[in-house]
Amino acid sequence: MVGGDERMLPSSMRGTTRSTAAVNLPAPVRSGGKPMISARRIAKRVREMGQEVSELYSDLDQPLVIVVVLKGAAVFAADLLRSLSIPAELEFVRASSYGSGTASSGRVRFAHLVEGPLTGRDILLVEDIVDSGRTISVIVKELQRHHPASLRLAALLDRPARREIQVGIDFTGFRIPDRFVIGYGLDYAGLYRELPGIYSLG
Ligand code: IMP
Ligand code: MG
Repeated sequence: MVGGDERMLPSSMRGTTRSTAAVNLPAPVRSGGKPMISARRIAKRVREMGQEVSELYSDLDQPLVIVVVLKGAAVFAADLLRSLSIPAELEFVRASSYGSGTASSGRVRFAHLVEGPLTGRDILLVEDIVDSGRTISVIVKELQRHHPASLRLAALLDRPARREIQVGIDFTGFRIPDRFVIGYGLDYAGLYRELPGIYSLG
């Protein structure tokens, strides 16, 4: 699996393929069971985060550069962007854990998709979840090489239980317990990103 830790999944879902993962999806997720975080709570919190971001960057001379970490943060970033009352540009980076097997190797491959120059710009990195902290720390290092004027992090979810590398999160949506989650952009085996709420698989 890409990111996260398969040991967090219920035993029935470990090592599942794309198709069996769908079959094994816990019934509450598809049949209206209670999400860990409802779509309504997410919408409210993301609007608040948009206000917090807009206040902090209200005096910028150039538009804020939102750098979205694909793919998981795409849904969050789209909503956050529409909650801003300041000008912002949109760029993307991609990062994935690599190595063989299903467990994350802890190493991260970075793909730079940013088009414009970042030197001297104010960057807000937008991530879905900070878990071990490895992914985001690699991305921060890569972006720092461009010497931005400032670099801050907005994470929809913070799961501190498994942190290995300390990461400063400037805007946090929700702090969650030690459970693997899906929905609102977050996937399991590439699926379930379309769910409007966030669901625990544990
Ligand atoms: P980290 O590098 O361990 O901090 O993991 C962060 C990345 O792993 C995120 O960008 C997600 O793509 C993925 N990830 C971690 N935990 C979860 C989860 O519970 N659900 C879905 N993806 C996750
Ligand atoms: Mg991700």
